[in-house]
Amino acid sequence: MSNQTILVTGGAGYIGSHAVKALQKVGCEVLILDNLVYGHKDIAETLGAKLIIGDTNDRALLDKLFRDQVKCDRPISAVMHFAAYAYVGESVTQPEKYYRNNVVGTLTLLEAMIAANIKTFVFSSTCASYGVPQQIPITEDHPQAPINPYGATKLMVERILQDFDVAYGLKSVIFRYFNAAGADPNGAIGEDHNPETHLIPLILQTALGKREAITVYGSDYPTPDGTCIRDYIHVSDLAEAHVLGLQYLLDGNKSEIFNLGNGNGFSVKQVIDAAKEITSKPINVVIGDRRAGDPPALVGSAEKARKILNWQPQYADLNLILQHAWQWHQKRHA
Ligand SMILES: NC(=O)c1ccc[n+]([C@@H]2O[C@H](COP(=O)([O-])OP(=O)(O)OC[C@H]3O[C@@H](n4cnc5c(N)ncnc54)[C@H](O)[C@@H]3O)[C@@H](O)[C@H]2O)c1
Repeated sequence: MSNQTILVTGGAGYIGSHAVKALQKVGCEVLILDNLVYGHKDIAETLGAKLIIGDTNDRALLDKLFRDQVKCDRPISAVMHFAAYAYVGESVTQPEKYYRNNVVGTLTLLEAMIAANIKTFVFSSTCASYGVPQQIPITEDHPQAPINPYGATKLMVERILQDFDVAYGLKSVIFRYFNAAGADPNGAIGEDHNPETHLIPLILQTALGKREAITVYGSDYPTPDGTCIRDYIHVSDLAEAHVLGLQYLLDGNKSEIFNLGNGNGFSVKQVIDAAKEITSKPINVVIGDRRAGDPPALVGSAEKARKILNWQPQYADLNLILQHAWQWHQKRHA
């Protein structure tokens, strides 16, 4: 894949930055487009990729970017699209913000791509597009019935991609992720959401004394210890899958949809107990009420990605995910 120029939207964010690193490792030149609303300039700088500070809703900027790359003989061959807003609760209270950014922003990007004759696209979708699971592990053919606007925006983009394939021959790989976690094993980059809503960073920030306690939302679910079960997938394994998905498209294959998860569920309590071991720190736990719309268990089957993309996660072990996250958080919050 060397010598390809790839545009990574949202590349200054958590998952996008790890994908940038994975693409660079296989010899790609990477351009990052990020509006830095939630991304980090210092993370993009650490990666050494060119950062264009801008928004996917800015059609003129996109047209110029694509034209300039052709002029300097480095045309963009594909786009990996991570840029989106992803706060489920906020999507309920401010849906317009999510439809505008996640749907209209993506549509603007896709229109600019078609105008520039760029027809290879890798998209970050989510297990939230399934809604409340009817069975687990969830496979790609599970019905999609999102229960919040965030999940709905991702499902809408999935539909747009199908239609753009038929109309314009745009080929896409859609990845529906379960819970991204962990950090680059070398400690160079990691997760830094603000505000933070993800379980593992919240637990580790509590271990670091940055938070008083971690709240467990519900301890009366029909699970072995009463807390919710989720499927945690190492961010570097996710990034690797994106490289394989891109290669799959560049090899001329048809559009496809893949789940990315480990197929193993861990309860909130299990994650907290494992974090106590790894950090050797006390972690205060407060038991709160259930949150509306939290299914008891969400576990994904990624057999299809393993089979078709030959994806082999390297860091499926929860302890390894926590160790890498802990290494990053200690450094980031030092
Ligand atoms: N983190 C997870 O567990 C998870 C799970 C499922 C799906 N996803 C999806 O993966 C993608 C990346 O998630 P993340 O956790 O890395 O989030 P993140 O917030 O760390 O990264 C998203 C980046 O996109 C940028 N951005 C947002 N809107 C933009 C726009 N219109 N133009 C340019 N830049 C824009 C933000 O500044 C940020 O840097 C998102 O699309 C998210 O919906 C994440």
